Amino acid sequence: MAKIKIKSAVEVEQMRQAGAIVAWVLQQLAQEIKPGITTLYLDSIADKLIREKGALPVFVGYRGYRHATCLSVNEQVVHGIPGQRVLQVGDIIGVDVGSKINGYCGDTAVTFAVGEISKKAQQLIRTTKEALRAGIKQARVGNHLGDISAAIYRVAKSNGYSVVEDLYGHGIGADLHEEPLVPNFGQPGEGPLLKEGMTLAIEPMLNEGGSKIKTLADGWTVVTQDKGLSCHFEHTILIAGLGPEILTKTN
Ligand code: MF3
Ligand code: CO
Ligand code: CO
Repeated sequence: MAKIKIKSAVEVEQMRQAGAIVAWVLQQLAQEIKPGITTLYLDSIADKLIREKGALPVFVGYRGYRHATCLSVNEQVVHGIPGQRVLQVGDIIGVDVGSKINGYCGDTAVTFAVGEISKKAQQLIRTTKEALRAGIKQARVGNHLGDISAAIYRVAKSNGYSVVEDLYGHGIGADLHEEPLVPNFGQPGEGPLLKEGMTLAIEPMLNEGGSKIKTLADGWTVVTQDKGLSCHFEHTILIAGLGPEILTKTN
């Protein structure tokens, strides 16, 4: 197994920039999301905004992917491809965006409501956000990776949701995906020791029904097998001496 990279102060500074850009892009997109727009329209805005900031949309060209964002509606878990789908009142949409600037990446996702959504959907969004927060809280020097994973899992389960077990968060840096994998389930105290300078993309994926997923014929879109709602949030974080620093924070 290759090693988990420790970032220098200079590298961390580049990642702060990459993170700030994608965080800002999500904020801008939040204002565009409404019934009647297509997912491709949202993607085109993200692409334009990322480039305006002097960054590259790092998903473009990743394993042949062709868009700046992954846009995943309702039972779509992640990796939904932007297209002519029109957003409807009551939909939820996961917006995942990545950038690269000065050689370093940022990766973040939020699930938004389209107009008024059901209480069930609101609760799923609230819990997934809380699971991410609980995971981040464990991203401290001296903890183990399993502490992050277990914290996420616990929040999901205690609220009656299942956790996607076939997709993971990941290390991030010069590459969008680096070691280690960051599962959303695991045992406290297990896995690699967390050290100052590690940077991770933590990304819980919670389902209202079962945990099973499948990939559609487009080769990308991941959906729940039982067609239940799914929700995704993601932050890129730094394990800093003083505790976790969220590099993709919106204020
Ligand atoms: N952003 C995804 C992640 O969180 C990866 C997307 S890869 C792409 O890891 F090619 F689909 F964009
Ligand atoms: Co992502
Ligand atoms: Co990611």
